[in-house]
Amino acid sequence: MDRVIIFDTTLRDGEQAPGASLNPAEKLEIAHALSDLGVDIIEAGFPVSSKGELESVKQIARAVKNSVVCSLARAVKEDIDAAAEGIKPAKRGRIHVFLATSKIHMQYKLKKAGDEIMRLAVESVKYARKFCDDLEFSPEDASRSDQAFLFRVVEAVINAGATTVNIPDTVGYAEPQEYGNLIGALKANVPNIDQAIISVHCHNDLGLAVANSLSAIRNGARQVECTINGIGERAGNASMEEIVMSIKTRKDIFSDLETNIKSNQIYKVSRLVSKLTGFVVAPNKAIVGANAFRHESGIHQDGVLKERTTYEIIKPQDVGVFGSGLVLGKHSGRHALNERLKELGFHLSHEQIDKVSVRFKELADKKKNIFDDDLISIVEDEIKLIKPLWRLEGFQVTSGTHISPSAEVKLKYRHKSLSGKSSGDGPVDACFKAIDKVTGVKGELQDYRIEAVTKGKDALGEVILKLKAKGRVVTARGSSTDIIEASVRAYITALNKIESL
Ligand code: KIV
Ligand code: ZN
Repeated sequence: MDRVIIFDTTLRDGEQAPGASLNPAEKLEIAHALSDLGVDIIEAGFPVSSKGELESVKQIARAVKNSVVCSLARAVKEDIDAAAEGIKPAKRGRIHVFLATSKIHMQYKLKKAGDEIMRLAVESVKYARKFCDDLEFSPEDASRSDQAFLFRVVEAVINAGATTVNIPDTVGYAEPQEYGNLIGALKANVPNIDQAIISVHCHNDLGLAVANSLSAIRNGARQVECTINGIGERAGNASMEEIVMSIKTRKDIFSDLETNIKSNQIYKVSRLVSKLTGFVVAPNKAIVGANAFRHESGIHQDGVLKERTTYEIIKPQDVGVFGSGLVLGKHSGRHALNERLKELGFHLSHEQIDKVSVRFKELADKKKNIFDDDLISIVEDEIKLIKPLWRLEGFQVTSGTHISPSAEVKLKYRHKSLSGKSSGDGPVDACFKAIDKVTGVKGELQDYRIEAVTKGKDALGEVILKLKAKGRVVTARGSSTDIIEASVRAYITALNKIESL
């Protein structure tokens, strides 16, 4: 068996997606989840971009033991120094240097001729190798570069010490056959290509990122750069879950290939990234979308009941989706709850199980059927990464057709109970204004969405909102069978996040 190395760039290229900013604690949690998932290399960030980014890369490098931790640098000393400092605490670290090689980038962005680019590429690789033996070089916009020039650059950087050469389709311009041929041509025309691993990095501007990556693998690439849920710059990067499951599902094509990914953790990690970035996964998204394993039409349902493979090419359990089967109810005990949580991939401390247990019992009193997604939502809501400064004690709203909405919210701050009253444009607005009065922080709501976690009249509602306060913007979620309570919980979580940044 030959292995395709999975290089995850959710924390670097993924985080570059507009509106997807993550705080250091959130990045660390994602890094742990990626490492547990079996990711070979985690690109943790671009350390020269800010002090905070450097610290975050260092924190990940210190904490993650089972994956290589990589940091990105332009082909300049200052960047490489910062990248080297970022990965210094890592058990296994990598520096990733990039420099554009396409005419359009060299002429307009870098304002440098080919000779100068060649010199910088070689010098930067040699310089970075002084800090780290594991060195990746990316000729940015490779797919739009002159091929003869690209091949010369690749040969030169390998001679200079690059151990992985990545061929980015930076603007998602390539087409699968063309991109596969490029990888084939690289193998045929670069004399020392066997001394490095060929990597691919595809963007999704034409919706071809995964197809291009797979075509490259068929032509000899052995590292794929990708992100969870396909998040990333503009239309995003190649989605990890789609690549991994394609390799696993189409054994007839990828017969001698495998990855290290524990596929049954995919759904859990997808939800985590969605929750922390605030990027909702489209229901029809392959592998991890809510509808990916749902069969609506009678003919399909009938087929699946007779023989699952008639309409299902992947077992939902293989990606950690346990369907919407009834899991637990009012009479389920703590042990059953804990077992189910473990099956869903959550390994919680006693204290965390206590918290989840309380919310579970409250929910079971209001809702007869508790589904896996309800449970996941409770866990995500309860197990916060940040120490909550403000906690919800209770609230009361008055609203109706002929009265103006008003609310009273009680919060706990350390050991003190504080309450505030306000009217508003609706009950949710009144609650938010009442919270602002209690906390003395004026929040500006930039986005607000409600989703039903599961089906039915008593479904758990999940509120996802984006809040700006104290010059910071954060995304937060809250869930409850009562959408006003879900909104209040999400708003308080957002405020706590802002206080923690
Ligand atoms: O898309 C791109 O070219 C990149 C490089 C930094 C690899 O993200
Ligand atoms: Zn990219």
